[in-house]
Amino acid sequence: MATNKPSRKYDVVLYGASGFVGRQTVAYFAAHPEVKSAGLSWALAGRSADKLEAVQKACPGAEKAGIVVAEAHDAKAMDQLAANARVVLSTAGPFALYGSELVAVCVRNGTHYVDITGETPWVKGLIERHHKEAQRQGTRIIPFCGFDSIPSDLSARLANEAMLERYGEVCTAVKVAFSIRGGFNGGTLASLFNMLASGQTEAMADPFLLNPEGAHPSDLTAHADPLGPRHDVDFSAWLGPFMMSTINTRVVRRSAALLGYAPGYFYQEYLRLGRGPAAALAATTLSVGSFTSQAALRVAPIRRLAQKFAPQPGAGPSVASMDGGSFRAQWVGHSASGNMVRGMIADKGDPGNRATTKMLCESALALALQLDELPGGSKHGGLLTPASGLGDVLVQRLRRAGMTLQVDAAK
Ligand SMILES: NC(=O)c1ccc[n+]([C@@H]2O[C@H](COP(=O)([O-])OP(=O)(O)OC[C@H]3O[C@@H](n4cnc5c(N)ncnc54)[C@H](OP(=O)(O)O)[C@@H]3O)[C@@H](O)[C@H]2O)c1
Repeated sequence: MATNKPSRKYDVVLYGASGFVGRQTVAYFAAHPEVKSAGLSWALAGRSADKLEAVQKACPGAEKAGIVVAEAHDAKAMDQLAANARVVLSTAGPFALYGSELVAVCVRNGTHYVDITGETPWVKGLIERHHKEAQRQGTRIIPFCGFDSIPSDLSARLANEAMLERYGEVCTAVKVAFSIRGGFNGGTLASLFNMLASGQTEAMADPFLLNPEGAHPSDLTAHADPLGPRHDVDFSAWLGPFMMSTINTRVVRRSAALLGYAPGYFYQEYLRLGRGPAAALAATTLSVGSFTSQAALRVAPIRRLAQKFAPQPGAGPSVASMDGGSFRAQWVGHSASGNMVRGMIADKGDPGNRATTKMLCESALALALQLDELPGGSKHGGLLTPASGLGDVLVQRLRRAGMTLQVDAAK
């Protein structure tokens, strides 16, 4: 059986290091105080030596990092990459196109893995192919370690912990209201278009797509994705559909099953639009707009046209736009007896790049530096979620990295 030996050549390999987010992960690692103080060995990896060397050259602090060249479908090179790493962090997407071999070799070599996919049907396939083997060997394979879906998954986890600590009960329902400012990467749009083109919209629509067998309720009515506007008394605000919720809700529901949250557990999330009549109008417009655009993008010629004018892979928002962005996820948890807990996860910097890079790199560092402290201990493994695979260690790491993860005082 493969083991996760500490003696491998690299502690962490950053795969996809020449991409838009990949370049930011290199900068994050190069500047991270713990990478230096712990003497971590790390490498930039991808399909092009020239591009990787250019990224390394442009990034102060990355001089000592290694370079690993491996095309995503080159089975031998990918196997070697995983055999030489304790942890692989991947930003090479669309993941359904470039990620399957990498996860397979990580499982085969007992190499822990994190990524920033939001491609739920792809992850469903990974669960079917690799969960049992990764569990048996104690290897953590943890997708969704970016803005999809760490704020959602950790909000639900924090809500449950606060309820237990304060009232000795669990949450039976958690809601999250998001506010975001930021743009889109070409790579993110390419992943969305690839998912739509591969005809997996039916799978994406299943609210419990990622749940283990037997943890899939027969009546889905209460868990359907919200389509219309609503006024929510807990947030005192108008809410509309949040475009990432069809990813995040599936991840939180898998966490609920893996971590044993309350039976019949309810989780939902929304975009917060504010108070008053203008917000009500915005919520209605957003609901109609998102329904129409989703339906339109399923039509191949419309999708091809949209793809032509969208930012291309490798491109993304300007530095000013990324630095000027922000996100806020306000959460509310309820218990069966009517108790309520509240809190918030928030950060400066755009969600798709600055926050995603921070969350992904801190996830990889949690695996590399704090394996024994993670949920389930050092031998725990499987196709996990951020909350079930990284838990409070990640909460603490993100706080130290400047992110707000707050539980409000009881009133
Ligand atoms: N969870 C989140 O919140 C979040 C946020 C942002 C992005 N994402 C996802 O992250 C992924 C990357 O986004 P991005 O903006 O960084 O995209 P990008 O700039 O297009 O980067 C894609 C990366 O994939 C690599 N790649 C392409 N084909 C390859 C192949 N055959 N073999 C090996 N590597 C290959 C590219 O290498 P080259 O440089 O050599 O072309 C590049 O490094 C996307 O799937 C996106 O949806 C998620």
